[in-house]
Formats: sequence, structure tokens, C-alpha cells
Amino acid sequence: MPEHTFCMIKPDGVARGLTEEILDRITKAGLKIIQTKQLSVTPEMAADLYAPHFGKNFYPGLLNFIISGPVLACQLQGEEAINHLRQIMGATDPRQAQAGTIRGDLKEENIFTADGSIKNLIHGSDSPEAAKRESVIFFDK
Ligand code: RTP
Ligand code: MG
Repeated sequence: MPEHTFCMIKPDGVARGLTEEILDRITKAGLKIIQTKQLSVTPEMAADLYAPHFGKNFYPGLLNFIISGPVLACQLQGEEAINHLRQIMGATDPRQAQAGTIRGDLKEENIFTADGSIKNLIHGSDSPEAAKRESVIFFDK
């Protein structure tokens, strides 16, 4: 059954001009792009999106990273969309992401922001609950 998921091209991906390349990879993987929105994430939205990571050592750096420049929020649809997107994204640490994945192929030499967040180009929801919760932060309904 087709499933919805949420993804966001992070500020590093937008700033490096990789939006089209990443969307192309998503489409070629068979996922349908339903809606996109370019915007700057507010501190409140960032805190909401990453609430599950509150209190972790990388949390302050992660929030600074996500508000550091425009992002592209996307709603996607497809068979097993949540897992499929996570597969084509690759591992959280781009140095461990396999060749052929977005994070593996497009990583920068220095993967860390000044305050220690990992720059890894794209966020993808990790469960149906997260997909719903995250989508409403960025899109109406
Ligand atoms: P995301 O939520 O952004 O899709 O990434 P993910 O599931 O692969 O990784 P997650 O564990 O949820 O971490 C969220 C984001 O926080 C940054 N991070 N930095 N310095 C660090 O050790 C560290 N760990 C995580 C990354 O930007 C990661 O994607
Ligand atoms: Mg995550």
C-alpha cells in the first residue's frame, strides 16, 4: 500500500545547489513528490522537529544547523516510502553511508558544522507517526 513520508533537504544541501540532484534521486527511486516548500526553519519549528533529540549532546548544534539557511520541505508518496527513502538517504554519518546513497555520494570533506552537528544533506521521517507529526510542522493539515 502506498505510504506517505516527509523529508527535508537540509541547509547544506540547499546552499550547495544540490536540491535538484537530490529530488532527481528521490524520483528515480520511484517515490512521488507530492508537495515541496522552500522556507527558513524558525527556532520553534526546529525544536518541534527534533524534540525526540532534546537533551542529547548534538542537539544545540543540530538546531543551529537546521536554522542556518533555507531548506526544502517535501511530502513524498510511494510503496514503503518511509523505509525506501531512508535507504536511499544512507547512514546518518556520511562517512559510513554506502556509495549510491544521497549522503554517501554527495558528502562534503568536512562533515561537521562549527558546533559539531553532522551535515548530511537530508532528513527523512523514521516512522509513520514521525511522518505525520513532522509533516504538520511544515504543511497545513
Ligand atoms: P534525520 O533525523 O535528520 O533524518 O537523521 P537520522 O535519522 O539519520 O539521524 P538522527 O539520529 O535522527 O539525528 C538527527 C540529526 O542530528 C545530527 N547529528 N549530529 N554530531 C553528532 O554526533 C550528530 N548526531 C546526529 C545529524 O544531522 C542527524 O541527521
Ligand atoms: Mg532521525
